[in-house]
Amino acid sequence: MLSLNFPKEVTIIEVGPRDGLQNEKQFVETEIKKAYIQKLAAAGIKEMELTSFVSPKWVPQMKDAGEIVRSAPEGVRGMVLAPNRKGIERVLETSCKSIAVFVGVSNTFNQKNINKSPRESLEELKPAIAELKAQNYFVRACISTAFYCPYEGKVQEEDTLALCREFVEAGVDELSVADTIGMAAPHESYSLFSRLKDELPDVLLAAHFHDTRKMALANIYAALEAGVDRFDSSAGGLGGCPFAPGATGNVATEDVVYMLDRMGIETSINLDRLVDAIDTIAPAVSREISTGYYSLSKQG
Ligand code: HMG
Ligand code: MG
Repeated sequence: MLSLNFPKEVTIIEVGPRDGLQNEKQFVETEIKKAYIQKLAAAGIKEMELTSFVSPKWVPQMKDAGEIVRSAPEGVRGMVLAPNRKGIERVLETSCKSIAVFVGVSNTFNQKNINKSPRESLEELKPAIAELKAQNYFVRACISTAFYCPYEGKVQEEDTLALCREFVEAGVDELSVADTIGMAAPHESYSLFSRLKDELPDVLLAAHFHDTRKMALANIYAALEAGVDRFDSSAGGLGGCPFAPGATGNVATEDVVYMLDRMGIETSINLDRLVDAIDTIAPAVSREISTGYYSLSKQG
């Protein structure tokens, strides 16, 4: 018997073009990325992380961010990541109106990822968020290492909540709370997301699970129980942060959609078309795509 708390509809935020590709060592041709993004939109994806405005020296795969934004599909909220003022200024020169800033709860992770402490990042981003909101931008804050850090281990729930609270006070529209290295267990997912729902009820809340230990679907189920109705996922299960050792792919969009479909929860995403999008990117990536729904679809 399903819980009465489950939402009737869930929004999938597709992060494949950004999280899915950023860790690929071989540059994926811009035209292939564009075709992949168009096919994801054709599959019914309505919100997507398209790319990142980060240093091309740190993440060369994202060096074509400007061009990706220029060909963003109509009717999709295309978000782009920016880690600092410089990244935000670069986005302001484009037509993109949705920005995702990102900070880790853990100090060591944030230093390795952004070369700053979480506090330094936050103090740089807070006034920038106010300026973006004054110009009607949609602002998402991605909170990394919300459960575990690859360098420091267990992260305290109170610390994650405190960082989330500061971003909400700074005016963000959405929090995307991440299990960066796929180490959270369902009771931890339920606990953190219940508290976030309870204590920060006025912000959009998304859960972002990496599937390193194959616990992502269980964690999504627990987050659904806690009232979360927005999930980040990556078609084909691609993904991982170059500065988080041990972070394998994001939970696969097709597996999340299949599970939600079976539970009678609407996503508006067409699985056949999603497979078509994965077929477009599969030959361009180093990893063999072997996620559950995708593999079965190939067996006919
Ligand atoms: P830094 O070296 O400390 O930067 O890197 P800096 O401020 O000292 O500047 C050095 C040079 O970089 C300067 O250029 C700047 O202009 C340039 P130069 O004067 O030498 O010619 N620069 C930039 N160029 C382009 N775009 C920018 C930018 N900023 C400075 N935005 C920096 C600091 C933040 C730039 C670097 O650490 C960086 O790019 N980090 C990004 C790391 C990243 O992309 N990680 C993956 C995304 S996060 C993630 O995957 C987690 C998530 O999925 C959730 C989860 O799962 O946890 C979201
Ligand atoms: Mg991620």
